[in-house]
Formats: sequence, structure tokens, C-alpha cells
Amino acid sequence: MPTLGVNIDHVATLRQARYREQPDSHNAEPDPVAAALVAEMAGALGITAHLREDRRHMQDRDIFLLREKITTKLNFEMGLSEDILRVALAVRPEDVCLVPENRLEVTTEGGLDCCGRRDVLAPAMARLREIGTRISLFIDPEESQIRAAAELGADFVELHTGAYANATGVARAKELQKLIAGAGLACELGLRVNAGHGLNYENTSAILALPGLEELNIGHSIISRSITVGLHSAVREMCDLIAKK
Ligand code: PXP
Repeated sequence: MPTLGVNIDHVATLRQARYREQPDSHNAEPDPVAAALVAEMAGALGITAHLREDRRHMQDRDIFLLREKITTKLNFEMGLSEDILRVALAVRPEDVCLVPENRLEVTTEGGLDCCGRRDVLAPAMARLREIGTRISLFIDPEESQIRAAAELGADFVELHTGAYANATGVARAKELQKLIAGAGLACELGLRVNAGHGLNYENTSAILALPGLEELNIGHSIISRSITVGLHSAVREMCDLIAKK
């Protein structure tokens, strides 16, 4: 059964909306670390956090505190900048998920270009290997990208489910088939398979058909639902939905 990794960036987004100038003030709320602990109690088997170059939500301190406090595992999402790479090397997360980062986007929009960016990815991955972290590459379910990820020696691919989540009807069915084929190819090439982006309580069940799927990373929908039902229930409901596979 796939496991759930809860992405807690949007807890920090809410905190930053009010406390951008003093995110570590004693008043600053909500606290992403406290949220991570609740998510773990509710059944999440991993916590995902993205430290963006512009620090728009998670702050360096959050990442170090998460490392110290959580008891499942930390999946550190990061773009390929030297500044963030240094944080990763100091934090030593169990998993790193490399993502493309464009300062103007609202959230991560497309997958990494593993084919075109091998020259940047390979040395960054070599440095991350030195701390024993497992490396995941966040890519679109395209054959060329999956093959490049395998050639780069990634442990995991995280297949980008955004196009599937945004589509409807026949287009959605086609995107699902692409994800299924992509996951199958990744498994054949010895890659492990995670998936995420845009998943919610309505569209996640179908994603459970991906061969070899190990982990789903879900953030926005769970944090949104937590406003009405509470975080523990929101995480629990998603765990139950995944368990119904
Ligand atoms: N996986 C990756 C690689 C992401 O960049 C994100 C968004 O930060 C997610 C999963 C979670 O996406 P969402 O917030 O849409 O569930």
C-alpha cells in the first residue's frame, strides 16, 4: 500500500501572511512543525517541506526543527541552488526531492528537465549522495525524462500528477494512462515511484493504480480541508482513502 507524505508548506504560507518579518516570534502561528507532528499522529509516514529560494513559506529554521522533531522521515524538496544545497547537506534529510524552481510561479509548475539539465543535476546529486540521502527527481511522466532519471542514478522519480489533476473527462483518462505507463517504465528501469501535485480527496483513488507506487505527497488539499475538519481528521481521511486501494 502506498504511504502518505504530508506537505506542510501551506501551514507556513499562512504564518508568513501575518508574520513574514518575525516568523520565529513567540506569537507566530500556525507552526508547521506542530502541524507535522499532528500529521504523523494521524498516520502520515513522511513530512515533505520545500525550502524555496525566496523563502516564501518554509524558513531555514523550520527545516532544522522538523529534522529534530519528526519521527517518520523528512522529504526535503529543493531547487538546484547552491544556497539550498548547503542547507540540505547540513540538515541531512532521509529523502531529497529535486524540483524545478521558478521565482514567479505560485507552486511548482512542471517537472524537472532531467534530459537538458544533466550537467547541473549530476554534480548536485553526487554531493547529496555523500550524506546518504535518497534522491528523488520530480518529473513529468515522459519516457525521455524517466530514462534520463535512471541514467542519472536517481533512487526515485516523483511523477508529476498536476496535468492529470487539472484535466477532466477524456483528457484526464489520458493523463492517467501516461502516469501508469510512466510508472511501469520507471519500475522496469529499477526506479522507485512516488507521485504528487494537485492530488485531492476526489482524484487520488485513481492514482493508486500506478504500478510500484510507494508514496503520495499531498499538501494543499489536506491543509485546505484541515480548516474545516481539523488537521488530524484531514490526514486520517486521506490515509483511509489510500488504504481502500
Ligand atoms: N510534490 C512536489 C514535488 C511538489 O512540488 C508539491 C508542491 O509543493 C507537492 C508534491 C504537493 O502538491 P500539492 O500541494 O498540490 O498537494
